[in-house]
Amino acid sequence: MEFSIKSGSPEKQRSACVVIGVFEPRKLSLAGEILNKAAKNFLSDLLRRGDMEGKAGTTLLLHNVPGTLCDRVLLVGLGKEKDFRVKEFREAVATAVRTLNETGAFDGTLYLTELPVKKRTMSWRIRQAVQIVFETLYRFDRYKSKKDEVRRPLRKLTLAVESRADLAVAEDALAQGQAIAAGMSFAKDLGNLPSNVCTPGYLAEQAIAMGQNPGLKAEVLDLADMEKLGMGSLLSVARGSRQPPKFIILRHDGGKAKEKPIVLIGKGVTFDSGGISLKPGAEMDEMKYDMSGAASVLGTMKAVAQMKLPVNVIGLIPAAENMPDGNASRPGDIVTSMSGQTIEILNTDAEGRLILCDALTYAERFDPECVIDVATLTGACVIALGHVASGLFANDEGLARELLGAGEEAWDRAWHMPLWDDYQEQLKSNFADMANIGGRPAGSITGACFLSRYAKKFNWAHLDIAGTAWKSGREKGSTGRPVPLLTYFLLARAGKT
Ligand code: BES
Ligand code: MN
Ligand code: ZN
Repeated sequence: MEFSIKSGSPEKQRSACVVIGVFEPRKLSLAGEILNKAAKNFLSDLLRRGDMEGKAGTTLLLHNVPGTLCDRVLLVGLGKEKDFRVKEFREAVATAVRTLNETGAFDGTLYLTELPVKKRTMSWRIRQAVQIVFETLYRFDRYKSKKDEVRRPLRKLTLAVESRADLAVAEDALAQGQAIAAGMSFAKDLGNLPSNVCTPGYLAEQAIAMGQNPGLKAEVLDLADMEKLGMGSLLSVARGSRQPPKFIILRHDGGKAKEKPIVLIGKGVTFDSGGISLKPGAEMDEMKYDMSGAASVLGTMKAVAQMKLPVNVIGLIPAAENMPDGNASRPGDIVTSMSGQTIEILNTDAEGRLILCDALTYAERFDPECVIDVATLTGACVIALGHVASGLFANDEGLARELLGAGEEAWDRAWHMPLWDDYQEQLKSNFADMANIGGRPAGSITGACFLSRYAKKFNWAHLDIAGTAWKSGREKGSTGRPVPLLTYFLLARAGKT
């Protein structure tokens, strides 16, 4: 998709389709009023006759509107003006793009990014609009022999801003939106790939390929390296698989050399069968998404590099496959993590924490400014928060607040969960320093508690994305979350919002 930014009246646009918003009931947006004037009340007459109410999600496509230079005008319902907020804005843009893509218009000019959205800036509207365009048009059809091709798909989109003075800022926001969207699409592709393609080795190859780009450096540790480092916990997960584990290190040195890096860690379990504590068969295919944390870290690194953000960021990805096998870990096995702490594996299906704990210990060597891990860690988190919010846990209030704020701003929201010491008791083991599970109550919290034991030396946050990284059901697929949350966090850290 080709994007551009323009200021100027809607009636003067030589576009295949100009998109105008209509509030409920029957109220044209500002740009709509201007167009209506040029069209000698053509639009207001239509509304008065009852052709459109302006309800959210509705559209009306008009041809040969008098007084305009465009082929078509698409009216998009926005709902009531006083209720027009982030969600409504996002839905309006999505509806517009979906309809444009189906009308046969080759290019479109959106007069929606001009609409005020409470507590949001013009830059935000541009950035979000671009993200929504990508999200709406995203397809994963590389394994379909017959792709459902759109006959004349939308190729060019112009986003309107109110005045010439906005152009420079809007161009920056456009570039940011494109970078975030590219990061999201990349994360979605990785999530959607089946586990026979997307293996730990595949993730490593992707990272190496990313490292060819300016602004990113990649390094991959293999089994022998991890053995030398004493990553006994991580390696215990990989034992049952024919796929060798990988440990990926991606760096973006965008900030000053003396500035401490922000470390992002992504759970990269490319398939989670549960291991010897085998999962039930129903919907087990969805465990191909168990590397979504890794995908979101890679996607975020891609976006950060593309935006050339002046921050130092390091992405760490412990990647392994969790399978049952004669060589796999058994319930009751005791392993020694890189930190020296011993773990009794009471359930081999609680494998995410086993690979993350060694990555957390590895992060110490970077003397990090903070560490954020991202993981599809617990089914319990899906029960607690559903598919709306990611679970956020942190050992530092300030960091938690920043991430919550970034999620709210990006509309990729998280909810702060407790990490009180009281829950730590559930991880007691009779035979080792800790067990890897804490029983059924508060499953997502005890998962976070386990990780917290490896994050004592830095400010740390954990995002449980088990419910938000993908959708199940008819529209099954990866969502690209929490790439927006993480990139908005880093944008804010870089002083770019
Ligand atoms: N990858 C799963 C978590 C998960 C489950 C994500 C369902 C999305 C949907 C994780 O490795 C896991 O199996 N967790 C166990 C932990 C339990 C054994 C303490 C779980 O949630 O059941
Ligand atoms: Mn598991
Ligand atoms: Zn898992």
